[in-house]
Amino acid sequence: MITIVGSGKVGSSMALQIAMKELDTEVLLLDIVKGLPQGEAMDISHLLSERGIDTHVKGSNEYGDMKGSDIVVIVAGVGRKPGMTRMDLLNTNASIVKDIAKKVAENAKDATVITVTNPLDPMTYVTLKVAKFKHNKVMGMGNMLDVSRFKSFIADATKMSRAAIDALVIGEHGENMLPLVRYSSISGIPLMKFLDEGKAKQLVEDTRKVAAEVIALKGATIYAPANAVTHMVDAIVKDRKEVMPVAAYLDGEYNTKNICIGVPAVLGKDGVEEIVELELNAEEKEWFDKGVKSVKDAISGLSI
Ligand code: NAI
Repeated sequence: MITIVGSGKVGSSMALQIAMKELDTEVLLLDIVKGLPQGEAMDISHLLSERGIDTHVKGSNEYGDMKGSDIVVIVAGVGRKPGMTRMDLLNTNASIVKDIAKKVAENAKDATVITVTNPLDPMTYVTLKVAKFKHNKVMGMGNMLDVSRFKSFIADATKMSRAAIDALVIGEHGENMLPLVRYSSISGIPLMKFLDEGKAKQLVEDTRKVAAEVIALKGATIYAPANAVTHMVDAIVKDRKEVMPVAAYLDGEYNTKNICIGVPAVLGKDGVEEIVELELNAEEKEWFDKGVKSVKDAISGLSI
């Protein structure tokens, strides 16, 4: 069973995408708002019925119903309003995520957990510390969404097929994210064969800023984050050993300890099966380290 805690805009869209891909036979939507997860589950089930998909989607307000979950996604909490940064949500969402992580530990101790609530890296750390799960069993989704945005800008700038683009973003899922031009390519050819320096810098800046633009226009980002989580769930459920950037616990990797932040990792049935260490140049390292400092400052102010 795959449980999604938080049946709002992102959680419900994720349930739909996970069910459409038949990643499990059971998907559970949980929320504190009475009726919301049940209504979402009904609406999604009607769609699945017409498509002939037998995945069962249920809605509940009872945390006990998550018993036996293989994967739990935490996407409950408040989202940012236009003009806010993700860090502005820190204290409100930390208390929500703490509460949920306790419930996950009580009810689904063998689950792999994917945190989505913002600010993503600190919330992943809170989940890990409160649930007290093994490091490989807790991760966060932030950079996979950043990757989808970076790919979109690369496709627009080069006019090349989206299918040929391979791109990477690591670091904080926030103001200091690090789109890695040097580790991005089109059909295996380094991206810089297709772009000049100025354009590449522009794409990196655009990738850092575009979420705020979407939020200013429509109030939230929904489909792309739901898709990014679905991709991670697919890699875990099918034991694909797929390398993708996730917020993972670092214990010395990237010269960093006791923090969760975005790094490339091998995802498979055991969750984060390996962290891939990249060589970063001075400028990349500066951005990565700024992200580490920002996340460290955030978690040092929380009582966990
Ligand atoms: P939303 O407001 O539509 O949904 C949040 C849901 O969480 C609400 O239905 C609310 O009732 C529920 N909730 C609150 N406390 C709860 C609790 N203790 N137990 C169960 N449910 C609870 O918000 P939306 O747009 O779905 O975003 C959710 C979170 O995901 C936000 O923090 C947002 O910033 C974050 N997010 C993260 C992304 C990422 O890349 N990591 C991308 C997009 C959103």
